[in-house]
Amino acid sequence: MKNVTCIEDLRNIARCKVPRAFFDYVEAGSYSQETLRANRVDLEQVKLRQRVMVDVSSRDTATTMVGETVSLPLGLGPVAMTGLERGNGEILACRAAHAAGIPFTMSTLSICSIEDLAAAVDKPFWFQLYVMKDRGFVRSLIERAAAAKCSALVLTVDLQVLGQRHVDIKNGLSVPPALKIKNLINMMTKPGWVFSVLSGKRWTFGNLDGHVKGMGNVKSLAQWVGSQFDETLNWKDVEWVRSIWPGKLIIKGILDVEDARVAAKTGATALVVSNHGGRQLDGAASSISMLPKVVDAVGSEIEVLFDGGIRTGQDVLRALALGARGCLIGRAYIFGLGAGGEAGVAKAIDIIRKELEVSMALTGVNRVDEIGRHVLLR
Ligand SMILES: Cc1cc2nc3c(=O)[nH]c(=O)nc-3n(C[C@H](O)[C@H](O)[C@H](O)COP(=O)(O)O)c2cc1C
Repeated sequence: MKNVTCIEDLRNIARCKVPRAFFDYVEAGSYSQETLRANRVDLEQVKLRQRVMVDVSSRDTATTMVGETVSLPLGLGPVAMTGLERGNGEILACRAAHAAGIPFTMSTLSICSIEDLAAAVDKPFWFQLYVMKDRGFVRSLIERAAAAKCSALVLTVDLQVLGQRHVDIKNGLSVPPALKIKNLINMMTKPGWVFSVLSGKRWTFGNLDGHVKGMGNVKSLAQWVGSQFDETLNWKDVEWVRSIWPGKLIIKGILDVEDARVAAKTGATALVVSNHGGRQLDGAASSISMLPKVVDAVGSEIEVLFDGGIRTGQDVLRALALGARGCLIGRAYIFGLGAGGEAGVAKAIDIIRKELEVSMALTGVNRVDEIGRHVLLR
């Protein structure tokens, strides 16, 4: 890790260490990947304003997100099948996040279960919920998250139907999964990955395993998941979730001002401006282009978080300057996980922290609450 200086370095190492199908799964966006690209392109177009001769010797990146103290305005977002990038991936990533003083979000579709993770870490984590057709199962998931003392529930609202990622179909990561000879051969060239995943606690969706009746293997579980995304999902379901989960609620996947206004009225603690990392509606706007519009509409009523395309601390500064309270990352830490397990995730967080700190200095701010639109060139 000594020569790793940026997230791109972690990505390059992960590409060598993680089997092609699982690396591609992380990297890909949906369809023509227009929105995936727009997330990056538009972030880079937000220009920072260089300031000089300001005393920046008392810099501090600490702040709060949904009322929790964080050492920097960053959290690890939910990523399905993290435990297939590296064995016990959710546990490793969560430990790195907690050591760095930032939150970790476990996906509904994680490989470790809620209970596995709760037993392996000593601080609360956030749990991300997909509301599936089987509401009895969803209720039990919420209850399990409460029993595990999760400190926030992240309700993802942008996945009623699944955007298609061409590469996943070509690689056999479809529903049901189709293990191809070329994948097996490729896996054999990654012995470190094979060893880590085989020695991991689980190899299938941990939160479903043993909880969904009659589902004994990966294929049937994946089929069940594929059939469970609920096209009827609507705002009434948020009320239902709220009636079961009285704790902090974060609504993730808002990309429209009108939707933001409705989300702000649900009593949720925060919303995340997000297009699911460019994996859902291709052709949708970049997250960063919608962030200031959402902040202007509802920023005084509800905490606004942001994700989509963040690869640097400069990106975090850009999002904060446009009104985000904090940011979530997906691929940036998964590349770290694939590259070096827990140390790799810690490295990813550290890279972003240092870049943020230096960029705060060069834009003339000492504290996170001093960051505003004035740090941008307009
Ligand atoms: C491989 C992968 C799996 C994901 N799985 C989930 C998920 O299970 N639940 C969810 O709400 N978001 C999921 N997301 C979206 C992320 O939480 C986040 O919105 C996105 O990755 C942010 O963009 P970034 O990767 O450019 O940082 C996933 C993203 C990726 C890349």
